[in-house]
Amino acid sequence: MNDDASTFVAPPPHPGGSFWLPVQGSTKAPEVDSLFHFITGISLFFFVLIVGLIVWFLIQYRRRPGIEPQPSPHHNTVLELSWSILPSLLLVVMFYRGFTSYMDMRTPPDGAMEINVNAKKWSWLFTYSNGWGEPELHVPRDVPVTLVMTSEDVIHSLFIPAFRVKMDVVPGRYTKLWFNATEVGEFTLFCTEYCGTRHSDMLAKVVVHDSVAEYQQWLEKASDPYTDQDGQPRPLAEVGAMFYTKRGCIQCHSTDGSAKTGPTFKGTFGTTQKMTDGTDVVIDENYVRESILNPMAKVRGGFRPVMPTFQGQLKDQDIGAIIAYMKSLK
Ligand code: CUA
Repeated sequence: MNDDASTFVAPPPHPGGSFWLPVQGSTKAPEVDSLFHFITGISLFFFVLIVGLIVWFLIQYRRRPGIEPQPSPHHNTVLELSWSILPSLLLVVMFYRGFTSYMDMRTPPDGAMEINVNAKKWSWLFTYSNGWGEPELHVPRDVPVTLVMTSEDVIHSLFIPAFRVKMDVVPGRYTKLWFNATEVGEFTLFCTEYCGTRHSDMLAKVVVHDSVAEYQQWLEKASDPYTDQDGQPRPLAEVGAMFYTKRGCIQCHSTDGSAKTGPTFKGTFGTTQKMTDGTDVVIDENYVRESILNPMAKVRGGFRPVMPTFQGQLKDQDIGAIIAYMKSLK
């Protein structure tokens, strides 16, 4: 993880925003802005009306020589009722619009794409469906995305101004936030809960891809085990070790020579072993490949035939990496 959050380079402001507000980057943004303008407009109208009347009355009814003080006017029922009822009605409208909008924001739609978020002082980690995690948030356009968020230390808060969404990220529990991005491009994500010295450095980049296909392409490339973060190729045995852990070989096969549910990986490659049917088989590339794709074909003597197939889950290239890893375990 990138612990030096100050290396973050904020993307330039996305074009299309107004003087007051950033670009409307999600389906929710127009509604939020409209409500904001509605409330601001009403507040502004009454501010000007009330302050204007105060100033006008100050001048109009100031004490002047030759004019005697007059008694205060009497109670006016129509006036009293209208300045009570009219603002109440406006408040009801504001509440209704705010509440329904809020409830909609609080309720992720069914079938939304889920991305896990881990916040800690002072960085973000986004973990995708295939287990890949990184400090940038990538999403496809026009797809509802739910962020399932938790914190490893103190309370943080995730805020994407362009999407008009904000939610606290709390240690010891999960909070959710959803959005449906509509604008392709890069945006900035802020921590918006004061969380310590470098709170203001706790930023992340949000990248919206044009389509699900493009997003999948990015994810595949980013999580490509054959290259490291800098795009440099990794040693094959190292890649194999990653598959060994991430694809679950580790559950049944040890690397220290001990037998678990299945035989150990250590010191096995190149040896000749007895199968359950009594035949002798050399543990070579072809045997390993067959055992991964069709585990029941030749089961090692002394072990039960319980291994699931990895047909369709591991490519030949991946199997090659696992073989390289086995070879390295002398
Ligand atoms: Cu995390 Cu402020």
